[in-house]
Amino acid sequence: MDERDELQQVVAQVLEYARFYREMGVTDIADIGALPPVAVSSTIAPELTRPDLRQQDSAAEPAARPAPRESLSMPGKSTSKAPAPPPNLPGQTSVAYMTKVPTPPPLLPLPVVSSPTVGLQTQSEATTETLEDIRRDLGDCKRCKLWSTRTNIVFGEGNPTATLMLVGEAPGADEDQAGRPFIGRAGQLLTRMIESIELSRDEIYIANVLKSRPPDNRNPERDEMLACRPFLLRQIAVVRPKLIVTLGNPATQALLDTKVGITRMRGIFHDYPYVDGIRVLPTFHPAYLLRSPDKKREAWEDLKKVRDFLKQL
Ligand code: URA
Repeated sequence: MDERDELQQVVAQVLEYARFYREMGVTDIADIGALPPVAVSSTIAPELTRPDLRQQDSAAEPAARPAPRESLSMPGKSTSKAPAPPPNLPGQTSVAYMTKVPTPPPLLPLPVVSSPTVGLQTQSEATTETLEDIRRDLGDCKRCKLWSTRTNIVFGEGNPTATLMLVGEAPGADEDQAGRPFIGRAGQLLTRMIESIELSRDEIYIANVLKSRPPDNRNPERDEMLACRPFLLRQIAVVRPKLIVTLGNPATQALLDTKVGITRMRGIFHDYPYVDGIRVLPTFHPAYLLRSPDKKREAWEDLKKVRDFLKQL
């Protein structure tokens, strides 16, 4: 590759970063210095230096939810088999891939769920129930203590046959009021993240591990996860996406039965243990990105993997 091609490649990459940062509302670009010096040039990426093009997201994010914990023990089945490597993605030169994610012994057996189609075994047959069946079964849920403080159940929404599913932790205050997932500040960032890879919310399915808001946005407790997770597993079995992006620790740990923290899990494709043919890609929770905007670069790397994965389907 001659110098000109190399320069063109660098410029293309910088523009891609610039677009992503702008869409994700980054206001401080100090750490863009890690890129080649050509990166911050007003001729190449004027938007990086134009305050009018910057958004205000990273300004003093109130701790909407306590910082995701590095480790939240989740019960469930441990998988001794190492997941198969991710598909070779077009244009991808190297994929960081952990063949062996340390899996702790299960703390509790996989909860028994009422659906006959999500059991202890990996599922290869399509389920016959619908999302409406699951919502009906959830009812005015009182299976854990959260019923007494919530306003609305937040079941999930989106395309029931989506190829991509996003799974968060639990509703926050805005979601609790509206009965819809990811509509507050973190949700708005999530929407921009989705749009940055040329998708819309309508095309994907979005759900949380917990369907009821924990008071004061505290972290989900184990009994709450145990009570609620079966409904999420059933939603996944119905939607049967090709890829699930888990947002943060609780979602990742709930779906992959691991205690390994998001920092080590993110950006790595895993097999979803309960339904054949579904991959899981953990990434940071958008609420965490609001508090730690320097992590947006890694989130963007993960989003590009999502985009490339979907492209090659
Ligand atoms: N955080 C989540 O994990 N889920 C939501 O729906 C909103 C904020």
